[in-house]
Amino acid sequence: MNYTIKYGGKEQPVLILLHGTGGNESSLLDVGKDLMSDATLIGIRGEVLEQGQSRFFSRVSDGVYDEVDLEMRANDLHRFISELLQKSQLTTQEIVLVGYSNGANIAIKLLLNYPDKYQRAVLFHPMYPIDVLEDHDLSQTELFVTLGTQDSIVPIEESQRVLTLFRRFHANILSEWTLTHQLTYLEVEKAKKWLHRII
Ligand code: MLT
Repeated sequence: MNYTIKYGGKEQPVLILLHGTGGNESSLLDVGKDLMSDATLIGIRGEVLEQGQSRFFSRVSDGVYDEVDLEMRANDLHRFISELLQKSQLTTQEIVLVGYSNGANIAIKLLLNYPDKYQRAVLFHPMYPIDVLEDHDLSQTELFVTLGTQDSIVPIEESQRVLTLFRRFHANILSEWTLTHQLTYLEVEKAKKWLHRII
């Protein structure tokens, strides 16, 4: 997988930056720096190409995910992150997933599949149009989630569905409603305040 790493202060958290469709490993570096200037930043590029645009998993059409591919890619991503942390001697640090759009969506899968490994996440404009039938205990999970009231990519019911999903599994959530799918300075500032409070 393509990635970039910017080392931060010793013992500081590691932010795993997961871009939206069409982004790359560098797309969220500035956001990461804003969120926590001393953190180590790891940006990762999704390996699926959709009309030349990088993503973290395949979809059948807009809002219809290829669930088999999502499962496989999330497990691959987890393995990649674990090996990279090991190789970079960052295993003792606090990990925070930071995802925007498609990156937030694969972050949800990581939170569900590996609740002992990933317990902090900033999810900017996620969508998870999948029925999660099995039970999960996310009572140790801390989330900051932003959602748009007039998001052209994520219908409002789908935004609500993300919140309902995490509430069902007892995650601790701070949610903020914005207007569109666009990532704004204001929501990054709010995420920053939240992050400095929980860490
Ligand atoms: C997705 O497919 O993950 C969502 O529609 C968001 C996106 O396209 O980035």
